[in-house]
Amino acid sequence: MRLKSVIPNIIIVLNIIKLNATDSTNTYLKHLAKETSLPDETVILAERQLAGRGQMGNTWFSQQGLSLTFSAYKEFRGLEVGKQFAVAMEVSLAIAEAMDALGIPEISIKWPNDILADRKKIGGILIENVLEGHFIKYSIIGIGINVNQLSFPHLPQAGSLKLSTDKDFDTEEVFQILVKRIFKGLNRIPDKDFSEIKRRYEERLFLKDQIAIFENTQGKPFNGEIRGVSDRGELLIETEKKQLQSFQFKEVKMIY
Ligand code: BTN
Repeated sequence: MRLKSVIPNIIIVLNIIKLNATDSTNTYLKHLAKETSLPDETVILAERQLAGRGQMGNTWFSQQGLSLTFSAYKEFRGLEVGKQFAVAMEVSLAIAEAMDALGIPEISIKWPNDILADRKKIGGILIENVLEGHFIKYSIIGIGINVNQLSFPHLPQAGSLKLSTDKDFDTEEVFQILVKRIFKGLNRIPDKDFSEIKRRYEERLFLKDQIAIFENTQGKPFNGEIRGVSDRGELLIETEKKQLQSFQFKEVKMIY
């Protein structure tokens, strides 16, 4: 399906492939991108995802008709590998802003890219980059959004748009809003100053400048305050000893 929409003076043409079911839209799109010459900004949307993948090898829970599971293919020119965190930041910001526009209250971004509504996770992002030398050739950006779910077995930290607002949402409408904002955000990357993207991202960072409890790789808890992120996407935490330490994704867990 090709969807055209006119936003003042700009025509956006998107390639959207809708599947009844697949194991993972990321895996599907990854194979498609390898085997064919895909148009930039192709999106795979699945009604049912049978083996949804999350960060750190986790599984992603979704429910047919109640949640959104899709992946977007985005090509880049001249985006250095060292700046790949810009992709995660722009996608997180696009989703956060789409949630604001839909009237979902208390939206924040939990580092690196969980979307929270009133401290509950309503969306997750799994980005897989394909590199060419020192540059990102393209990204497969997988997005899961909990839209109308009311219960999450064994996931006490999960929420949904419906749980946040007591309203039902049209999943198709939420999807259209998200896709447009995501590509708009990604297309801004080459023209935007990296520090400007980082500033906007840090403004929405969950628990920024608040005392919180973290756990290191040895399972040892420590108190600290999130001060921001490094250019490489590491989390910067000021410890009780007033030292600024940087952590990669697998090196720290937020207990809060
Ligand atoms: C996370 O762990 O927070 C990331 C979850 C990402 C889930 C989405 S759903 C669509 C796409 N396909 C997948 O297999 N995963 C991503």
